[in-house]
Amino acid sequence: MIPDDVVEQVSQQADIVAVIGEHVRLKKVGSVFRGPCPFHQGTGPNFSVVPGGGYTCFVCGEKGSVFTFVQKRLGMSFVEAVKHVGAKAGIDVQEVDRKREGPDPREPMWELHATVSEFFQRTLWDSAAGAAARDYLASREVPRPLAERLGIGFAPREIGTMRTYLNGLGYDDDRLHAAGLLTRREDQEELRPRFRDRLIFPILDASGHTVGFGGRLLGPGEPKYLNSAESEIFSKGRLLYNLGGARNAIRRDDRVILVEGYFDVLRLVQAGIECAVAPMGTALTDQQAELLGRYTRHVFVLYDSDAPGQKATFRAADVLLSKGLEVRVVTLPEGEDPDTFTRTKGADAVHRLLEEALDVFDRKVQLLERAGWFADLQHKRRALDRLLPTIRAASDPVTRDLYLARAAEAAGVAREVLLSELHAVRRAARRTAGPAATADRAPHGHGPGGGGPGDPGDPSHRESAALPLGPYRSSVEKGSAEQTLLRVLLTHPRWFDQIVEEVGKLEDEDLPSGSDAADALVDEHSGAWRDPVYREIYDAVVDLGADAAPEALAERLDPLAVRVYEDLRGEKDAVVDASASMTDAVRQLRARGVDSRLRALESLLPLAAPGEKDALNLAIKRLSDEKRSLGVQHWGSVRRRR
Ligand code: CTP
Ligand code: MN
Repeated sequence: MIPDDVVEQVSQQADIVAVIGEHVRLKKVGSVFRGPCPFHQGTGPNFSVVPGGGYTCFVCGEKGSVFTFVQKRLGMSFVEAVKHVGAKAGIDVQEVDRKREGPDPREPMWELHATVSEFFQRTLWDSAAGAAARDYLASREVPRPLAERLGIGFAPREIGTMRTYLNGLGYDDDRLHAAGLLTRREDQEELRPRFRDRLIFPILDASGHTVGFGGRLLGPGEPKYLNSAESEIFSKGRLLYNLGGARNAIRRDDRVILVEGYFDVLRLVQAGIECAVAPMGTALTDQQAELLGRYTRHVFVLYDSDAPGQKATFRAADVLLSKGLEVRVVTLPEGEDPDTFTRTKGADAVHRLLEEALDVFDRKVQLLERAGWFADLQHKRRALDRLLPTIRAASDPVTRDLYLARAAEAAGVAREVLLSELHAVRRAARRTAGPAATADRAPHGHGPGGGGPGDPGDPSHRESAALPLGPYRSSVEKGSAEQTLLRVLLTHPRWFDQIVEEVGKLEDEDLPSGSDAADALVDEHSGAWRDPVYREIYDAVVDLGADAAPEALAERLDPLAVRVYEDLRGEKDAVVDASASMTDAVRQLRARGVDSRLRALESLLPLAAPGEKDALNLAIKRLSDEKRSLGVQHWGSVRRRR
């Protein structure tokens, strides 16, 4: 903070006419100065500045002190504004520590990183070793002033250069090692730099301390980008690339543009769009969203146009919404990312895209509408299952209400129905979490793969991520119907044909749903083989035949499936009565299928028009009867797992 008396002193000695005069063409009119208002882009002389006082616009009503002017026009914080004005008045404004604590314990690490950053930059521009990196920048059309502005550097391939340089400045090996800049490979003595032969993007925190690096290989190879290791100063999930550089612009423009990567930021900055930041190769975190919320409530998400980019967009949006931020989605033409688009189409084209950006919810509705997902009952159900999590994510009540109304309108469903659905969190989570719902295993920013252009992301991820249902976990579970069936199949080959026949029947079976709507849901909800590992083994066995050699099978399977397969084969004694076990397992699988159809139909009921209800109820009754006839009491384990 700045002591009050210093603020007062700056305020008194500041020449407000001179400060504002740098940004507005002012003319003396009587005792005041007049000019066009920079806030509403006025042309007439309606903006008035009083020497020794403040400013006012008589048209848009904007008014304030010399500090507010600087804060608003230059996007500075109050402290920065006082320093800025103070400097012009020749006053050295010093911040004092409110609590008079000692220096920040992270200082030495920041200082070291700033020094290393300088080394990387010198290597890039002034050394022979940097030639390839200079060529690389040229080939990607990155001019030197832009690279310098972002502090881009180059980490040489040579192992000793950085170490020698830093040792010479008094940083010893232990310190470099502790900072993660030098690493020692297992069972090797030698210290090597973490970053070698990579173009370096220094990463600064919001206050401008150098806290880490992101390094890109000049050529092909893996990983394409390497970031600093997590440390007391570098925590990827709490930092955003370029936030330090973009901070003032974000405040000034009252918006931020979220992109995926370093080069996207670079290109926007080059185009004069400074308010761009990027998470560093991971999905946007709660902390990052909170960080943005300190500067603005308006976030434009500008991710790659490909399917993973789209998925990541909706994922990030839910996180941002949960922090009460407003989210708009910018849609790039197919095949483009912000880097290529901005480079080839220019800043104006980007501005046009930003203007056309849709609120994230409208964008979702638009995609679902285009894919025809509001046309019939069963699609409607699925469409709403994709919209509800986003409505739920919105922590701002006004936004949530708007979204609710919009969804009700698009789906032609009463608001009250949606409202009650909204509160049925658990039910919806269960419905949307298919067997494929797994944690994010993508190598970087993008969510789990899949999801074509017709599928507007998978907004169910937040709930599904919380479910204990992971395919690998469940494969280890003992005593399931799949397990029994496979065990018989593998240990009692003489039942092979019959099992294949029964399972085949199960899959082709036209269960009496009595409704087209229900039939369309069968694929998605058929619960017969919920476990991909068992399914994989089953398919392989059926393909290769009863007498296939175990080695041939093992070769076809994933390592995990091989393990499960070996276990199953080793459990010959577990099957006492093969015929009874088999019959029971088939019955369980079938009951499971019936049950999931039943649930699906029940979930359609609230959305059904009066004319559709009778058929639906009839189908539900038939399935309930069948469920009873299958003796549901025996498959309690299925319920537990859901
Ligand atoms: N990223 C990462 N680690 C990887 C790949 C990507 O941390 N192995 C991060 C980087 O921040 C990268 C962003 O994810 O900038 C986006 O990845 P990608 O689209 O692959 O990279 P681009 O930005 O397109 O990089 P380039 O244009 O250099 O290929
Ligand atoms: Mn990209």
